[in-house]
Amino acid sequence: MKKISAPFFLLFSLAFFFAHPLFSQKTSVKEIDRRVEELLAKMTLDEKIGQLNQVPGDISTGTDVAKDDLLSQIKAGKIGSVLSHTNFDNKIVMQRAAVGTRLGIPLIFGFDVIHGYKTIFPIPLAQAASWDMAMIENIERIAAEEAGADGQNWAFAPMVDIARDPRWGRVMEGAGEDPFLGSRVAEARVRGFQGDDLGKNTTLATCVKHYAGYGFAEGGRDYNTVDMSEQRLREIVLPPFQAAAKAGSATFMNAFNTLNGVPASMSKHLVTDILRNEWGWKGLVVSDWNSFGETIVHGAASDDADASAKCLSAGSDMDMAGGTFLRGLKKALESGRVTQAQIDNAVRRVLRLKFMLGLFDDPFRYLDPKRREATLEKPEYRLAAREAAAKSMVLLKNDGGILPLTPESPFKNITIIGPYADSRDHKDYMSFWTLGIGNPDYDTTKIVTPAMSLKSTLEEMGFQVTVTEICLDAACNEKDLSVAMKATTSSDLVIVCVGERGIDCGESRSISDISLKGNQETLLRIAARGNKPTLMVLFNSRPLVFPWADENVQSILVAWQSGYETGNALADVVTGKVNPSGKLPITFPRSVGQVPLYYNHLNTGRPQSQMGQMWTSGYLDAPSTPAYPFGYGLSYTTFSYSNLTVSKSQPKMGETVEVSVNVTNRGNVAGEEVVQLYIHDVAADIARPVKELKGFEKIKLNPAESRTVTFKLTPEELSYWNADLKFKADPGKFKVFVGGNSRDVKEAEFELMP
Ligand code: NOJ
Repeated sequence: MKKISAPFFLLFSLAFFFAHPLFSQKTSVKEIDRRVEELLAKMTLDEKIGQLNQVPGDISTGTDVAKDDLLSQIKAGKIGSVLSHTNFDNKIVMQRAAVGTRLGIPLIFGFDVIHGYKTIFPIPLAQAASWDMAMIENIERIAAEEAGADGQNWAFAPMVDIARDPRWGRVMEGAGEDPFLGSRVAEARVRGFQGDDLGKNTTLATCVKHYAGYGFAEGGRDYNTVDMSEQRLREIVLPPFQAAAKAGSATFMNAFNTLNGVPASMSKHLVTDILRNEWGWKGLVVSDWNSFGETIVHGAASDDADASAKCLSAGSDMDMAGGTFLRGLKKALESGRVTQAQIDNAVRRVLRLKFMLGLFDDPFRYLDPKRREATLEKPEYRLAAREAAAKSMVLLKNDGGILPLTPESPFKNITIIGPYADSRDHKDYMSFWTLGIGNPDYDTTKIVTPAMSLKSTLEEMGFQVTVTEICLDAACNEKDLSVAMKATTSSDLVIVCVGERGIDCGESRSISDISLKGNQETLLRIAARGNKPTLMVLFNSRPLVFPWADENVQSILVAWQSGYETGNALADVVTGKVNPSGKLPITFPRSVGQVPLYYNHLNTGRPQSQMGQMWTSGYLDAPSTPAYPFGYGLSYTTFSYSNLTVSKSQPKMGETVEVSVNVTNRGNVAGEEVVQLYIHDVAADIARPVKELKGFEKIKLNPAESRTVTFKLTPEELSYWNADLKFKADPGKFKVFVGGNSRDVKEAEFELMP
């Protein structure tokens, strides 16, 4: 095939470099830079190194900072930023100490604002299942308002790591497996947190993390080795980072892992060559927790001075929680391994961020007790949490139309049972990020559990409802099972709440077995015995496998770990007040042995069409297809797709192609559908994925209503990173697929002409 080089990438990069403002903020960059230079000129080397040092606050108790060494270090000018501190009054004390130093440089407070701050929303993976970017943006706006009112200035979010391995505990924190969806979510989150003006005290600076490759840890083991081609890095891992940079994220965070042998924190290739030079991004890069120091443990640096020199030279700026710069940077300078100019550049970025946030003009602008009082946990935030949780739930099965439960449903007696039916003490509707970081302010009594809301809602509708609290440790014992037997005998519908514990997901929470733990499957078998109508509600942070339920349980709803409003949102979905519209942002495999399993794989030279087919790529004992594919999710109505058309059958290179399809609501209720567009480059210069998501639109249709959805396929979307690492399109045939998930699609094609 004739190669036509179309250097789109370069064009896009240049356009980005020149077009976007420094970040979303209104104060003139020139004025900020002038003030930064003025201040920098007055700073001693120690003060500069202090600005590059970020230390953890007293995260376990958040109490008396005066007793901590922290305050004396702030007074000594050794700290530029404090992270993970939860006590409001202490932040005021610390800020006062910082402002009282020789140059009065304010502190910047960072915090992991992962799925809400005080009002807890569904986990990020669940939010991504909504495919609703306006909703996600709004959630982050609320999170920024709350966190900002509580004294935080800097959110360590969004995590934009693409992940294909559900064993990895941090799958819950990203947007799933797809770079296109991941990029849209990344932009929405940055917009939500930062708004259009970082200078407002209701917005927070974002920190896009973990740069880069963290989601591809070997075996799903957190912090583990990542080794991948540059092509995969650029095509799968980097797009959400680039999208977030382009959306104006003020900061980035290094990843813990090595990437092709190089610890990410000291990767010049990642930080300087790609992020700063190719993308023209000008923000601050902070390490992950002691990731500068861990370069020594990786065996890629000899001591603090060596680690400091390597990380700073790579382009990273601030040291989180390790103290490596504090101990090593001066030595690195004295031995000539870094220059004063390199240190100054890093300090400039820290100061610039503080200026942009308005902290120099008013160091206490995020520390107003009255604003705090008026902002935290507003009732309207709760409503947003309820809406978000309902929109994130994914209906995987609804045989016989068990759901929604309405007064016409043929059931009278309903039993709600299972470890997650009313797990109030177990905090299982939150996640690691609201528990593991030890924030004492999260109040689990604020959680509306499934049983709390479902029981009253269903009873008001005339059902008789029994809640049987068993198996609270998610490992039902014999006694529990006999209780289950009794409890379900007289009911004509059983709602079984199964899943995983909130504390089993998140950082350092990798697992080797993603099936339902303990006797949860036995509980399902008891509930569904004799074909009794059963609804399985899954409370999960990652794809889990439940093969028996797939076969035998009529209705399956993925409710995720959905935060404070879990129960109310569940009641909304179960009763049809909200018609489910969530779609999986990540493949649900049939077994852990299939992992990694993702929709945008290569075809191989020997694709398998059926399990056990010899001499093809697959397993003898498992199909190569997933239990539920990427993009999948049912509604209480059905949608049909027709008239798939492509605007040009033979577009020229560089032209945009329009793809249109008619979508019709064929059922009796209004519903929302996520219309998804995929492409396949049939014969490129290198092998291309069988499908790649290139567009989606969430639409609402009334019964019998039709809508034409039109997508634009730009030259950029037809391009890819080829073997020479050029971002270009190849002439030739392209297939186009449109549908409500990545498997069930209509197909058309066009030929890209040279
Ligand atoms: C380590 C985590 O990897 C990172 O995501 C987080 O922001 C920092 N700790 C700070 O808590």
